[in-house]
Amino acid sequence: MSCLLRTTIFRKQIVAVSGLMISGFVLIHMAGNCLMFLGPQVYNFYGHQITSGPIYYPIEIVLLLAFLTHIGTAILITRDNRKANVSTPGAMRTGGEKKARFGSQSMIYTGLLILVFLILHLITFRFGTYYEATYNGVIVRDLYRLMIEKFNEPLYTGWYLFSMVLLGIHLSHGFSALFQTFGFASVKNCTVKKIGWIFALLVAGGFSAQPIYAIWVAGR
Ligand code: HEM
Repeated sequence: MSCLLRTTIFRKQIVAVSGLMISGFVLIHMAGNCLMFLGPQVYNFYGHQITSGPIYYPIEIVLLLAFLTHIGTAILITRDNRKANVSTPGAMRTGGEKKARFGSQSMIYTGLLILVFLILHLITFRFGTYYEATYNGVIVRDLYRLMIEKFNEPLYTGWYLFSMVLLGIHLSHGFSALFQTFGFASVKNCTVKKIGWIFALLVAGGFSAQPIYAIWVAGR
């Protein structure tokens, strides 16, 4: 078992499965956040339903494990790739190979910046200011108010939008890598790339629409 854990292909499969789990969460999270377009009551009630349900903490633990596994294994793969590259210096590379290498090499940088974003995001929204709102006698957290406030801070929104560009790049490259890792070689490379970009644009675009909406709401 310990030998299996050390093989690159097994590590890649771990990164791929955890990446897929996180991608699923990110897509659902983006769609849920879009409920803010329906107003504070709908959005705050949705948040309340999720955080007060019995599966909230189990899901959080599974997600945390998926993130730790993804990041830890991705760092190991990157370290081993670098060692292998140092031992074969000066190898001639074709244009296509260089492009592909840029794609895979950028993953660690986009990933680490996304990690910084995630930590700041949790500090701001999960552990940040606790406003309350009451609807039909039920007290809920007023996350809508916090969102509108934060997204009207230019520095916060600038960093947020920059992070969404990074997330889009990470997801689009990640999607192609996922197909390679699981050996779906029969699917055309450009088709995989197109699906990857569509998914990345949907997620990053959906998240980016929220600050734009918040700025519009505050300016009404
Ligand atoms: C929203 C968060 C994230 C999502 C949805 C995500 C998704 C993915 C996906 C789908 C892959 C492709 C898996 C494969 O190779 O088959 C991937 C690869 C990778 N991810 Fe992430 N990731 C996220 C966060 C992170 C973070 C925080 C890091 C920090 C180190 C990271 C580092 C990497 C690296 C280095 C690879 C490439 C590994 C390799 O060379 O095979 N990711 N990611």
